[in-house]
Amino acid sequence: MRDWTPQTWRERPVTHQPDYPDTPLLDSVLTDLASFPPLVTSWEIETLKAQLAEAARGERFLLQGGDCAEQFNTCTPEAITNKLKILLQMSLVLVHGTRKRVIRVGRFAGQYAKPRSSPTEERDGQTLASYFGDNVNAADYNEAARIPDPRRLMTGYERSALTLNFIRSLIGGGFADLHHPEFWNLDFVQHSPRAAEYQAIVQSIGESVRFMETLTGISVSDISRVDFYASHEGLLLPFESAITREVPRRNGWYNLGTHFPWIGMRTADVDHAHVEFYRGIRNPLAVKIGPGEPGRDLPGFIEQLLDILHPEDEPGRLTLVHRYGATGIEEHLPKLIDAVRKTGKTVLFVCDPMHGNTVRTSSGVKTRRFEDILKELERAIDLHADNDSILGGVHFELTGDNVTECTGGARGLSDEDLGDSYQSLVDPRLNYEQSLEMAMLVAEKLGG
Ligand code: PEP
Ligand code: CO
Repeated sequence: MRDWTPQTWRERPVTHQPDYPDTPLLDSVLTDLASFPPLVTSWEIETLKAQLAEAARGERFLLQGGDCAEQFNTCTPEAITNKLKILLQMSLVLVHGTRKRVIRVGRFAGQYAKPRSSPTEERDGQTLASYFGDNVNAADYNEAARIPDPRRLMTGYERSALTLNFIRSLIGGGFADLHHPEFWNLDFVQHSPRAAEYQAIVQSIGESVRFMETLTGISVSDISRVDFYASHEGLLLPFESAITREVPRRNGWYNLGTHFPWIGMRTADVDHAHVEFYRGIRNPLAVKIGPGEPGRDLPGFIEQLLDILHPEDEPGRLTLVHRYGATGIEEHLPKLIDAVRKTGKTVLFVCDPMHGNTVRTSSGVKTRRFEDILKELERAIDLHADNDSILGGVHFELTGDNVTECTGGARGLSDEDLGDSYQSLVDPRLNYEQSLEMAMLVAEKLGG
């Protein structure tokens, strides 16, 4: 394999990067970023990798979720605690159903850049550059707002630090203590159609915790600290390479801006810059896998991808996140499982039931149907089992807030309800109730 440095990606074709008009400013921002303290440490990254290795063997389960894109103006205590609360609640439900330890990974503290299917957007006869996430430009619909501004990378890094700082303090301070799940109750939990079921799970876990403490004399907080890890799509390579470093007393390079970056479906070309950049870092990596171009040689692609990103078959190194949609999974997933098997290597398989199920309502609103999301997950569970493979995790776009972006669920949100509180600037997320319900249905299926 050719030599690698954090900059060798620059020799490859690169897509989905902003065209910054002010490159001296970009360079000065990148120089500053490279000198700043990291957001995460190699110790945390290696711990997560070991846990992901367990998930790949079916000994743990990964729950990854959060906004499609975070926004700078939702870096607020309420939004952050609500996100932690829903992920904690879902993980509790999954632990209860699967009897496995759950790894919690947020799409947060850096999920600020988006690949878009079209570089431009048209409204009322005016065409502007698309919004590429707060790390790149602003969502406001005017020409100036859409110009890529490198100073946004600095703001994004700072907001990520604020987010992580608050999450770490909450957890260190006992917010995630299993003795006090009432701390994580969202105000609207009592209105949820699933409230009673959730309370019963909480109670049963509380009893188990007290039973174990009595039996062993060890406090549960000593044996099981609840951890959260951060992840985002590692899209903007100038930024990602600036925050990639060598660390004392370990070999290799670490991206210290997040624990667990992923390569998006649109940038996973084996000859292109993203795969080149990510092959060189020691973090665990995920790659999104969709249906691909018609006629793509899937076994060939997977073999090359794993040759480059997963050459040593290192446990926990590589996660493949399949996102085929409820109608595509039947055809594609068995082929993917087979292609990986042919390489003789182990990966962690995770299902993202969101991105293959995006539709537009008759009035043009982007949404996803609860029943499609659930169907893809159920098929993923069965197809992995039927093919002697392991579904080791799930990847959701969700929020702890009471939004109306996806339809369906116990409350039966309809297309007409979507206008009530549609807040996402990009993809539609499961709201609090829909997320909790989804976790219950998936836990039941995985457990049973
Ligand atoms: C995403 O996860 O927000 C995303 C863009 O996914 P994909 O690359 O799978 O389309
Ligand atoms: Co998305």
